[in-house]
This record gives sequence, C-alpha cells and structure tokens, in this order.
Amino acid sequence: MKILLVYYTGTYHTRYLTDRLARAFVDRGNVVERVEIARGVAAVCTEGYDLVGFGYPIYGFNSPLPFNRYVARMRIVRGQKFFIYKDSGETFAINNASSRILLRRMRRRGARCVGEYHFVMPYNIHFAFDRDFVREILAKNEKLLRILLYDLDHGTGERIRSRLIYNIASALVSIQKVGGAVNSFLYRVDRNACTQCGKCIRNCPQQNISQKKGKIRFGHHCDMCMRCSFYCPHNAIHIGFLEGWKVNGDYHLARLAVEGAPDRPYITEDSRGFYRCFVRHFAKIDARHRELFGE
Ligand SMILES: Cc1cc2nc3c(=O)[nH]c(=O)nc-3n(C[C@H](O)[C@H](O)[C@H](O)COP(=O)(O)O)c2cc1C
Repeated sequence: MKILLVYYTGTYHTRYLTDRLARAFVDRGNVVERVEIARGVAAVCTEGYDLVGFGYPIYGFNSPLPFNRYVARMRIVRGQKFFIYKDSGETFAINNASSRILLRRMRRRGARCVGEYHFVMPYNIHFAFDRDFVREILAKNEKLLRILLYDLDHGTGERIRSRLIYNIASALVSIQKVGGAVNSFLYRVDRNACTQCGKCIRNCPQQNISQKKGKIRFGHHCDMCMRCSFYCPHNAIHIGFLEGWKVNGDYHLARLAVEGAPDRPYITEDSRGFYRCFVRHFAKIDARHRELFGE
C-alpha cells in the first residue's frame, strides 16, 4: 500500500508516534510518505494513496487549529480511506469528541474513516509526568499500535464514539481560536536567563518568534504548541496566562521506550484522582491486545 501520514506536532510527541507508525508500515512492505504541518507547508492531495493517517495532539479537547486549517486546504479524493491517531495527556471522556471537525470535513468530502486511536502521551502543559509513568504509557502505546495495524489489515477498526454532550462541551472549550493570539501579547523572555541561542526562533512551527535589536520578539500568530518554552534550554520563556502550567524539559521518549514498562505498574485498580481516568483506558487496550494476540 501507499500510505500518507499527515500530522501536526508541537513538542514532537505526535512526531514520535508518527515515526513509530511509519516504521511499522514500512516493515510490513508499505510505502510511506509524511507531511508535518507547519507554516508554509503546501496542502497535499490524497490522490494515489491507498490510505491516509491523520495525527494530532489534543488541544483543549479539540484538534489543533493549524491542523484543521491544513485539512480544509487538502484535496481529498472521494471514497478516500483514512484513519486517525490522536494523543493527549489524559483520557477524560470529553477527549472522545476531539475529532468532530476532522470527521465532519472528511464526511462532506465522501471519505471513509476506518479507525480512530487515542494514544496517551505525557503532558507538555499542566505538569510533567513521572518517568515511570511515561515508560508505562509508551509500553501501552506499543500495544495500541499493534492493535491499530491489525485493525487496518482486517477492516475491524472503529471510530471513537462520543456523546452529544461532549461534542457540545468540546465546541465550547475551543479556546485556541483566540487563545494563541491573545496570549502572545503576554509572552516575554527572562533576559537574565536567555542566552539568545535562537533555538525558539529556529523551531517555531509558525515562524512567530524573531530577534530584533538583541531582543526576542513574539508575533501574534502563535499556535500555543509550547515548543519554544518546552525545549528552551534555560527555561527563559514566560508563556503568559499559561505560565503556571508550563512544562519545561524533554521527556527523551526514545530513550524511555527502550527501558520498557516499569517493574511495578504505575496505574493500578487503586489509582485515584487524576490517574483514575487511565485505569479503564489501559484495561481496554490490554483486553483487546489479549483477545487478538493472546498476551
Ligand atoms: C494548548 C494545549 C492544550 C492541550 N489540551 C489538552 C487537552 O485538552 N487534553 C489533554 O489530554 N491534553 C492536552 N494537552 C496536552 C497534549 O495533548 C499532549 O501533551 C500531547 O502529547 C502533545 O503532543 P505534541 O508534542 O505532538 O504537540 C494540551 C497541550 C497544549 C499545548
């Protein structure tokens, strides 16, 4: 098969998943092409592809704005088969509604969804996940990836269903429509900490950061992807009203993946509070994996 992977990523978690997917598809003898959405990337047409995968991180219970805009510009062949791989830091049921805009656009263009998969990835905002938890997440993702590949081979994939109330809530929480533009007025750099290394300028997917007269400046077309502040080597970027939720520091996903799951499960039946939402999600992945592969 010839497969196209179209994805958006802020802090490269979705890129990590895309790497894993692409490698798995290639290992099975497929041809894979990929498009990482960023400012200035030309919209592609799906003609000639047997399958298209759409990948995105969930932002405020929605797909990111630049992702939606890019998909709107794509030319989609009628009857096009596609699947969705999305990721987020928690598995609250409202996240089930996050693909509603993508699904609506694809339905209008006569495309056919052959599966939707929700991968947990560590938060790049709110708070940093514990190392062992990340190891457990990555191990579960390998199982989900195997399930995804099985489904695509056997036509057993399904869309993640969402209740109407979550669709409405997800539409209401669509803060990113104005969030990035408003918040960008509040961004600033700690001049004592900043070494002007230029990493934020080079990496911004929107080319929204520049340097003028020795000062780092932020424009007003920010995606709120957090790449600049997450990877700033000196934690020098203040991100306005999200400052209290800033996460600074790479998780080194590839390295943690090699270590495998922790010896003792991080999420158990007794997990409480925020961690409770993962119990059912992980149990479902384990059960399906066991059903398909007996492990
Ligand atoms: C602006 C913003 C909003 C987010 N909203 C959510 C959310 O609603 N639910 C969630 O579980 N995670 C949320 N996250 C966390 C990301 O979905 C998660 O860390 C993801 O793995 C980031 O992927 P990326 O590195 O490819 O951008 C949000 C992150 C950002 C930056």
